[in-house]
Amino acid sequence: MVHRNHAKGSIGTVPMRWHGDRLELLDQRLLPGEEHWITADGASAVAQCITDMVVRGAPAIGITAAYGVALAARHAGAGDWKSEVEQAIRELAASRPTAVNLFWALERMDGVFRDCDALDEATRRLAAEAQAIHEEDLAANLAMAGHALDVMNPERPLTVLTHCNTGALATGGYGTALGVIRRLHEERLLTVVHADETRPWLQGSRLTAWELARDGIPVMLNADGAAAALMARGQVDWIVVGADRITANGDVANKIGTYSLAVLARHHGVGFMVVAPSSTVDMAMASGEEIPIEERDGIELREIRGVPVSPDGVRVFNPVFDMTPAHLIDAIVTEKGAVRNPNITGMQSLFGACKG
Ligand code: MRU
Repeated sequence: MVHRNHAKGSIGTVPMRWHGDRLELLDQRLLPGEEHWITADGASAVAQCITDMVVRGAPAIGITAAYGVALAARHAGAGDWKSEVEQAIRELAASRPTAVNLFWALERMDGVFRDCDALDEATRRLAAEAQAIHEEDLAANLAMAGHALDVMNPERPLTVLTHCNTGALATGGYGTALGVIRRLHEERLLTVVHADETRPWLQGSRLTAWELARDGIPVMLNADGAAAALMARGQVDWIVVGADRITANGDVANKIGTYSLAVLARHHGVGFMVVAPSSTVDMAMASGEEIPIEERDGIELREIRGVPVSPDGVRVFNPVFDMTPAHLIDAIVTEKGAVRNPNITGMQSLFGACKG
């Protein structure tokens, strides 16, 4: 089982609970108003929860999909179990396109599945693999926070700006960029976190502000458009964000709005750090130009909780991720260490020529 506390502070609210025959997911669409857990008892239900953003955040999507494969084996019929598990993997792979953690986790599950001859063996080993993926993610988050502090090397408490939600809710616990923020706070090296509200899903205001406030970490919410003004006033030391996919040359896909932050950071001389587990690194993809960027329904911009906020029928541009080129990034930090001023050489020296 994943430990609920680590030595110094909280690991936050982990958004999935594994029960062997079912998975419970905290419905992140309802936060912060309501803490409601949805029960998924099969791979189709899990895939739907990923598509519908019940669970979101690259590592959390990967962990959840792994549990989905485990459920497919747990509930498969004795005769046709292999094709049922194969179908589940296909369905889960189609749930969202951008975060490579999903495909990384499914590949790991597929490897275990292919090695199993009998259904009871597959049921046992797939559940164990999903739990291992979950536990390794938490361990990676704790490790990468240490590497990030080495890069920052703070001599006084820092003010950090973050985008979207990269906390426990987006991972197996503790968080990636938000894990770095937790660690700074634990070391008394954090003044305040500025949290971008992160339109249109409001992961910053609904989730990040909720997580930080819950754990007593000083947070100040700002509209996405206020980030430039904060930097112009000299009120940001580091921008720390997560990632959905990092390519072999160090380009990074992350929540829409991340690219503008990187441009602004360079203009204002503010450090820009990307923090992610190595399961987010896709060394098989040469550059960010190749990353499939998810576009979601325009209703996400036209309405807020069912209330229209734009004229009827207006056309909408709603890519939910963007790509930040490597040359705007000061450091990519993973549990394996940091790549400063990322490029293909630095990436290969840490991750090898191929993903591993
Ligand atoms: O659409 P979301 O909420 O899944 O997008 C999440 C992000 O872009 C996060 O920054 C990223 O997945 C890293 S989470 C540790």
